[in-house]
Amino acid sequence: MELPPLLRRAVDRALSGAALTDLAAAAADLSQRYREERRDGKTHVASDRDALAYLAVRLPATYAAVRASFAAVAEARPDFAPKSALDVGAGPGTALWAATECWPELADVLLVEASPVFRAFGERLAAEIGQPRMTWRTSDITVDEIGGDPRDLVILAYVLNELEPDDRHRLVERLWPLTADTLVMVEPGTPAGWQRILAARRQLIASGGHVVAPCPHAKECPLQPPDWCHFARRVARSRLHRQAKGADVPWEDEKFSYVAVSRKQAPASSARVIARPRKGSGRVTLKLCRPDGSAGDQLFSRRDGAQFKRASRSDWGSSL
Ligand SMILES: C[S@@+](CC[C@H](N)C(=O)[O-])C[C@H]1O[C@@H](n2cnc3c(N)ncnc32)[C@H](O)[C@@H]1O
Repeated sequence: MELPPLLRRAVDRALSGAALTDLAAAAADLSQRYREERRDGKTHVASDRDALAYLAVRLPATYAAVRASFAAVAEARPDFAPKSALDVGAGPGTALWAATECWPELADVLLVEASPVFRAFGERLAAEIGQPRMTWRTSDITVDEIGGDPRDLVILAYVLNELEPDDRHRLVERLWPLTADTLVMVEPGTPAGWQRILAARRQLIASGGHVVAPCPHAKECPLQPPDWCHFARRVARSRLHRQAKGADVPWEDEKFSYVAVSRKQAPASSARVIARPRKGSGRVTLKLCRPDGSAGDQLFSRRDGAQFKRASRSDWGSSL
């Protein structure tokens, strides 16, 4: 997946002139913090150098994961056309770009972010977008009131992993009344990220929410550790991205877990492909999560006719 051209250009402009050695050192710090899931009360993005490293090496991946999660919501709920959104822990506004691409009718977005440096970069990147109307706020979401009227779409992308467990629970509890329609949460696609998504999913179902995606049911997740529910998107790496990471490969696979919970039920749920399809000649095996709450492999062969065709065209994350 590539960034939308306008965002690519805005990111490239922000990065032009950044010293590669600085960027590489900051990118290494950032990766180390994310790998260790370090929560020491400090924002990961305290300086221009940190923000630029995020733009170079993380934004393309978080964009791809959030965009894919939104696409699954749009597919499950074709009637959903959010006019207003709230992006919590917005960083440089990654989800804003993904949301406006998925739902161009979005008219009004509130972005709340703890780091003033990140917020400033986000505002600069988005300066060229005419629509939607954007309001940026620097605020600590664990203590400050978010307030305002409920918004059609509420987004929490790659934020739960930066909060303490109690703060996560409280934040999800506070975000639900601010959700007029759908709350989308995305986390790194690690077993720990999946556990955070599972906890939020349970919490929201108990509050009366309907799971829109990826699960085709609201029963307990059928997967058991060491297995975990996650998806992947292949992300193109720019030259600077490769240099900052000291990598040769022109792409990387971003793994992510997500859940979208809505006040409205999706019209119909179909099975979701929850692993990379295994394709052979005349046959394909899909690992499916099914509407009856079960999960497992299913083999499709030419004899299955139209079903086989659909299965062959499906990908990891598709609904069947
Ligand atoms: C990994 S970044 C994700 C940024 C953006 N959502 C994205 O997907 O690219 C996590 C963001 O959450 C913000 N954050 C963490 N704790 C926060 C808090 N208590 N209040 C507000 N923002 C917070 C961080 O400053 C950072 O911008």
